[in-house]
Order: sequence, then structure tokens, then C-alpha cells
Amino acid sequence: MSLPFPASPYLSGNFAPILMECDAHDLPVTGVLPRALHGTLYRNGPNPQFAPRDPYYHWFIGDGMVHAFHIEDGRVRYRNRWVRTNKFKRERAAGRALFGSWGNPATTDASVAGEENGVANTNIVWHAGRLLALEEADLPVELDAGNLSTRGDCTFGGKLSGAMTAHPKTDPVTGEMVFFAYAADGRFTPGIRYGVVNGEGRLTRLEHFEAPFSSMIHDFMVTSRHVLFPVLPLTGSMARATRGEPAYSWEPQLGAHIGIMPHHGDAAQIRWFRGEACYVFHVMNAWEDGSRILADVMQYDAPPLFNPNASGPGSRARLCRWTFDLDAGTDTFQRTWLDDMPGEFPRIDDRFATLPYRHGYFASRQQEEALPGSYDTLVHLDLGTGRRSVHALPQGDAISEPVFVPRTPDGPEGDGWLLATVFRGNEQRSDLVVYEAGDISRGPIAAAHLSHRVPFGFHGNWRPAQ
Ligand SMILES: [Fe+2]
Repeated sequence: MSLPFPASPYLSGNFAPILMECDAHDLPVTGVLPRALHGTLYRNGPNPQFAPRDPYYHWFIGDGMVHAFHIEDGRVRYRNRWVRTNKFKRERAAGRALFGSWGNPATTDASVAGEENGVANTNIVWHAGRLLALEEADLPVELDAGNLSTRGDCTFGGKLSGAMTAHPKTDPVTGEMVFFAYAADGRFTPGIRYGVVNGEGRLTRLEHFEAPFSSMIHDFMVTSRHVLFPVLPLTGSMARATRGEPAYSWEPQLGAHIGIMPHHGDAAQIRWFRGEACYVFHVMNAWEDGSRILADVMQYDAPPLFNPNASGPGSRARLCRWTFDLDAGTDTFQRTWLDDMPGEFPRIDDRFATLPYRHGYFASRQQEEALPGSYDTLVHLDLGTGRRSVHALPQGDAISEPVFVPRTPDGPEGDGWLLATVFRGNEQRSDLVVYEAGDISRGPIAAAHLSHRVPFGFHGNWRPAQ
């Protein structure tokens, strides 16, 4: 008999886990799903199997559960499965949690000391014929794209032995998947690994360097020629973890450090740019313009979820453009706010990743009192015209990160649909919704109805039908 989950904001409401895995053959649909929409939307998020061992629970550490919506001929088939990580399997066999938060040795059961504790809960990407569940502190986990069964850790033929970011970038021209990992030399170390997987799925490069300090680096920036590593002062410390304190802490006095490396260069060529402290979980896009590198990021004054003292507007992210001039002879960079609407989960038409782009999409939260991770408004920014479009959801509903799907493989940027899950608060269940990406203010053109909740999660991606 497993124990009840304790009272915690991130174990309540639609943050609470669902306890079942299921299949739904043909979901009821309202509206009309475009016939050209043919493929699968995968979404990933934390869904803890058992009540945590530590007295506090952090949203980021729940076991990954993948939700797949297969769309074909106007119909939707659904399946959800936990990722069978080592942690999941060991705890299922024991009937209770065995691992401490963030691998904390002080709260981990002796029977699993030193074992892999990845949760594979953050993103799910399709690259070179592999479906990978990603979480930034551990190896990718490969799933079967059809039945979601777990195939096991993906080491790229034994070449990768440590973590990979949950936010690799795929170059739409070369098909290369570029990634990094922080804490590359062990938990809370300043080592950073950089790697490239080519379009055929072979790991072709690994580089290693030291950041100025150990920090949580959730996402990074990639242009057609450079890679940018944002080292921001949300620092990690094993000493804090073993004292029973939160391992990650906000230390703004350390400032922001952005390392810029040529794609095909090596660590010795990294140039560090410096600025005032801020935090970024997510990058919308980055690209080159002559000697300049531009990056649009969702910037916080201070990180939410890690800093109990953070509150007010500074604890909410807004879209900010960072400009670095490689020829200006300076180690500073410019920041310009692009929009005053708070937001998270920025996405683009991924065919324009690493390239100049025009259309950005994100989730926004109008209600100040709502927890970070819960969003009630969908936003589209046309950065060409400066026009902002929004769709505010009905009271009590909440929307996930939007995923863009092009109408045709080579159509213009932004011509397609946005797919998201929506939690229907009054009905305690979720929908898959489809918007016309160029006209979100009219609301979804179609919705497929689940009878259960998809708990608030992180990221998803589309895999077009083969
Ligand atoms: Fe993320």
C-alpha cells in the first residue's frame, strides 16, 4: 500500500499526479480537426509515482509521464505512460519512494545509494528516428514512438555517459542536434559539456569546459554559427544539499556570464560576456546579423521556484532581446524588453530555429495569485509588425506550452497550427486544443476531450507522420 501524497502546492490541483496509464482509441472532438494535421503531439511532465521522501517537494523532480495524441483523418488517439527510468522501476518494486530530491544522498534510501536517479520528465524530442525523453541532469531515455514503452538510456552507441540538456536545438538546415550539459563532472560542479548529434543520429562531437561557477543552466542559445551558454547565478551546492538546505540558491552578486563559442570551434575560443544578474529558463530563438548575435529570451529579474523572497513583477518573465557584438571590443551586451506581457514556454516555428524569425508564441498568466507553471492566456507576437494577439481562456482553465505545426513542410513561417493541452478547471479534466497560429484570438478551431487531467507539465513536440 503506497502512502498518501503530502499537502504541497505542487502536489495539489492540476499539479497533482494522475495514478493511471491508459489508452483512448478515439477521443470525442468538438470543431473540425484539419485533415492535413497528421502526426503525433508528445508532451512530458512530472507525475510522481509515490509520495516524496523529503519534507519539501519541488515540481521539477517528479517522475516523467509522457502523453501522446496521435492525430489522423480528423481523429485523435491518446496514450499516456510513465517513463521506466531506473528510479521508477526500483521504486515500483519497493512500493514507495527510495530516492531523495535532486539525488540528495542524505535522504536517499541506502538500498539505492549511488544509483541512477533520473526522472526524464522535462521534454520529449524526435530526432533522427529516436524519441527521447529528456531531463537535464541525466542521460536521455529512448521511448518507442508508437507504444511509448521505454527502450532505455540513450548513450549514442556508448559515446555519451552523462547528462544532456532537456533543450537541445535542431538546426533546420543541417539536421544536427546541438546540446550541452551543466554539472558535467558531477552534481553541482562547474563543468559544462557541449555535443553534436548529426542528422543520422551519430554523436560526432563532445567538448568540455569550466563555467565561472556551478549553476542551473536550463536552456541555451544556438545560431547558425555560434553556441551561447548562459551561466546565471542560480547556483548549485552539494554542501547546502547535505546540510538539508535546498541545493539551488539565488546569488545575484555573482552576475550573469554568457559564454559564446563558434559551433565548430573549441572551448579555448569561448568569449565571456558579462552583465547584471537575471534568470532565464527558456529561450525563444537566437540568430546572427553580421557581427552581431541576437537572442530573444524570457528573462526574470530573479528566478521563481527557487527564491522564496522573490515576488512582484520581477519574479515573472518577459521577452527580452539580448544583443552581443563580436566586433565591438567589449564584454558587455545590450538588453531590450520586447513586450510587457509576462510569459513562459516561448516557442517558434522550429523551421526557423537558429535563423532570423518573425513569429513567437508563449503562455501567459494574468492571475498574479496563480502558481508559476499555471497559465491562462495564449500569446502570439508578430515581431515583424509588433502586433500582439492573445486568447484568454475561460475562468479556471489553464493552457500548456504551445507547439507549432506547419501546414505544409515548406510553407511560409507561421502558417500552421498551435497545439496545446488545456486543463478545464471546472470539469477537472483536460483537452487537446488546436488553434490557427495566425488567428489565435478567435480561440481553438478544434478540441479533443479527455475524461481525465493532463497534469501541468513542461514541454512537448510534434512528430509529423512519416
Ligand atoms: Fe524547459
